Amino acid sequence: MKLEGVHRRSIERTADGAGVRIMDQRRLPWEIVWVELRSAEDAARAIREMWTRGAPLIGATAAYGLAMALARDPSDAALDAHHAMLVATRPTAINLRWAIDVIANAVGPLPPAERAEAAFARADAICDEDVALNRAIGEHGLALLRTLHARNPGRPVNILTHCNAGWLATVDYGTATAPIYLAQDEGIPVHVWVDETRPRNQGALLTAFELAGHGVPHTVIADNTGGLLMQRGQVDLVIVGTDRVTANGDVCNKIGTYLKALAAHDNGVPFYVALPYTTFDPNTPSGDAVEIEERAAEEVTLLTGPTANGIETVRVTNSNAFNPAFDITPARLVTGYVTERGVLSAIPSIAA
Ligand code: MRU
Repeated sequence: MKLEGVHRRSIERTADGAGVRIMDQRRLPWEIVWVELRSAEDAARAIREMWTRGAPLIGATAAYGLAMALARDPSDAALDAHHAMLVATRPTAINLRWAIDVIANAVGPLPPAERAEAAFARADAICDEDVALNRAIGEHGLALLRTLHARNPGRPVNILTHCNAGWLATVDYGTATAPIYLAQDEGIPVHVWVDETRPRNQGALLTAFELAGHGVPHTVIADNTGGLLMQRGQVDLVIVGTDRVTANGDVCNKIGTYLKALAAHDNGVPFYVALPYTTFDPNTPSGDAVEIEERAAEEVTLLTGPTANGIETVRVTNSNAFNPAFDITPARLVTGYVTERGVLSAIPSIAA
């Protein structure tokens, strides 16, 4: 990822190796502020309060959180307690539990004195693997964009995306954005319709920031706009990330994804979901069984942004609000799953 022209990852070890640095994503794009996490409690807070976010990145952050806990106390009791604490930070993304389980399973059989170092090494590997997976997802998605470009070589490929499934949501490249970045590098003209993604505006604030940093042409749209654009033939493909894909192929992703899938289906626009295999959840039969995180009503009733007086928060309604953070897109609305192993048209037994 390019940040002020310099290549960075969204999570990095501190110079002394004992902690990690992340960006406080609540302050983007207005300010780039790196913060250090030095304990499992720091990591849990950063995930819960969404300083860091996105399914793969919260997995990586939690993995380091468990490593930091073991550096202080490598006992079985501490391992179990911090495992439980970190898993509870956000309920929906399966990568979170996956990453914590990977660390716990790797270090559980070791003598306590060896656990912390092994946990940090495994967390580093999770990050390196995430970058490689996303790069591979990008290569497979790029083939789709090449095909669309060949159909209409005289104009950019118009892509619609929801939320932020970019490098800010992963360790690097992103999932849904990886094909876009690779297409841009290859010289394929692309233009991205960026759903603002209320209530937290991850599209308007984060995806737009990322795309701008890489010089990718893009336009932010209100969440209600995609349907009209699809009716007018102004969207060639929708591509989104996901927090969990269940055994039957249902897709859990940021609230509002389902409406885009419906509109895409009605208008014959291909709807793709980009994900690493670590986001498949073969143990959950369908989307009905996924716990949907419910977040504070203030995320709906308040908005924050820069004014002449600095960064300020204003109220946009005096009424009560309801704020489920994710929804379920049924498998029947998904054209394909763009994974590191290729583009799959159906899920059954895929996660085996
Ligand atoms: O609530 P967030 O911002 O963590 O939600 C993120 C998303 O919904 C992403 O699309 C998903 O985690 C995939 S990230 C590659």
